[in-house]
Amino acid sequence: MINNAIRRIKIFDTTLRDGEQSPGCSMNLQEKLEVARRLELLKADIIEAGFPISSPGDMESVKAIAGIIKDSTVAGLCRCLEKDIDAGREALVHAVNPRIHVFLATSPIHMKYKLKMTPDQVVEQAAASVKYARKFCSDVEFSAEDASRSDPDFLCRVFAEAIAAGAGTVNIPDTVGYAMPDEFGALVRYVREHTPGIEKAAISVHVHNDLGLAVANSLAAVAAGADQLECTVNGIGERAGNASLEEIVMAMRVRRDYWHTDTQVDSSQIYTVSRLVSQVTGVKVQPNKAIVGDNAFAHEAGIHQHGVLENRETYEIMTPESIGIPKNRMILGKHSGRHAFDEHLKELGFGLDAKTRDDVFAQFKILADKKKAVDDRDIEALVMGVSATAPETWQLNRWVVNCGSTLSSTSTIRLRHKDSSYHEQVSVGDGPIDAAFKAIDYIIGKEPVLETYKLNAVTDGEDAQGETIVKIKWQERYWNGRGVSTDVVESSIKAYLAAINAMEWELSAGTGKPEAVLQTESR
Ligand code: KIV
Ligand code: ZN
Repeated sequence: MINNAIRRIKIFDTTLRDGEQSPGCSMNLQEKLEVARRLELLKADIIEAGFPISSPGDMESVKAIAGIIKDSTVAGLCRCLEKDIDAGREALVHAVNPRIHVFLATSPIHMKYKLKMTPDQVVEQAAASVKYARKFCSDVEFSAEDASRSDPDFLCRVFAEAIAAGAGTVNIPDTVGYAMPDEFGALVRYVREHTPGIEKAAISVHVHNDLGLAVANSLAAVAAGADQLECTVNGIGERAGNASLEEIVMAMRVRRDYWHTDTQVDSSQIYTVSRLVSQVTGVKVQPNKAIVGDNAFAHEAGIHQHGVLENRETYEIMTPESIGIPKNRMILGKHSGRHAFDEHLKELGFGLDAKTRDDVFAQFKILADKKKAVDDRDIEALVMGVSATAPETWQLNRWVVNCGSTLSSTSTIRLRHKDSSYHEQVSVGDGPIDAAFKAIDYIIGKEPVLETYKLNAVTDGEDAQGETIVKIKWQERYWNGRGVSTDVVESSIKAYLAAINAMEWELSAGTGKPEAVLQTESR
């Protein structure tokens, strides 16, 4: 309870698990660590850091996140299998507040076709797994996958056994985004009223957005007595995504009068965490997205602008500052000094170490020479290009491409290896970027598959920077890379090298703990 009238709802963020597992949203270790730090600053109650048994990368990142997060609970997802729970236990061993999150499907279709188990076997396995997990961890959550398509009485039976075995939270997922708000609220109420022992556990919901109802369903669950909401930043997640953290939080904050609930989230962190997730995944936020879209606080129509100038509340139900959009977007140029630049980095929430600040400032000066006005989006892109990236095994020294409609594209690439040796290669390709990537492949002695290539303008205008996001695949593993430059060939080369450096770093034996250079500060 926040006070007598307002009930506190816990926020369980699964951006790094359900969000990250969706196509095109993968993040490298440095990026996951940075997102986790931001979520802790935002005061998410629980951060689901990954699915430890699913890959060595997930195991490593859950371990690393568990090692740095102190205030939020860190959860690891496990199937109801001992080997999964053992992996979860290993990954969370250094967490201050660990949570093992086990799940098993309870709907007829999942039990019959996916699990090939009878309902009795499901009950038994759920209870046994919770019991096993409780041997290592006092905080265990049990999720009944596809709960919204399960028989409500069976759901209550599974939950009752899970609670008796020691689950402190039972989660009702709308795994396929099928439920309607009234129906979902009724299911939560039914579970609350018909599950023996439910008073010993928190009720959680986890909702997908296939019919665009994830937030509505989450709020309906709150009205029916749910204690915890599972969600992701920008709503990223499997298929149409998960319930969006920022929408859930702000709906309850702005309409506390209606819901009589709130969260402990520091809403002034919302904007930066949203930008960060968009930057590191390369998944743009749609301009009209509620709360964090570029147009969410833009007033185009003259009559609206007039109203807002007279009194903001005519057309604004919340302020941009309440989600952390800086009041005055600062435009910096080539005459901006170091002090103003450092101050502005702090205002944007980037608490960088001295070396990273120097590197970002050097990049800023180069950019300011090419671009008249450098705005916050440019600076964020520069920061993300310099930090939250893996150490450079390969550094771009220089490049040349020749291309045109009457000749084959050729490139000459010169890279510097971390052992200080220089390597140069000429290559022909199907276009300048292909030629450049082929030359790099030759130098590094590997041919990763280019799974995704995206090119966007960071800002508007003729002199806008190009931001390239690539995803590469090598031996069934994926890495992202991002590059920014006013030249699109250069941004592409930088992005490809960033992905290669992430790959080399993770593949190199005994990488040890990452030396994260990016640290966040509260504003
Ligand atoms: O959607 C789902 O059912 C899940 C569970 C693992 C909680 O993600
Ligand atoms: Zn899910």
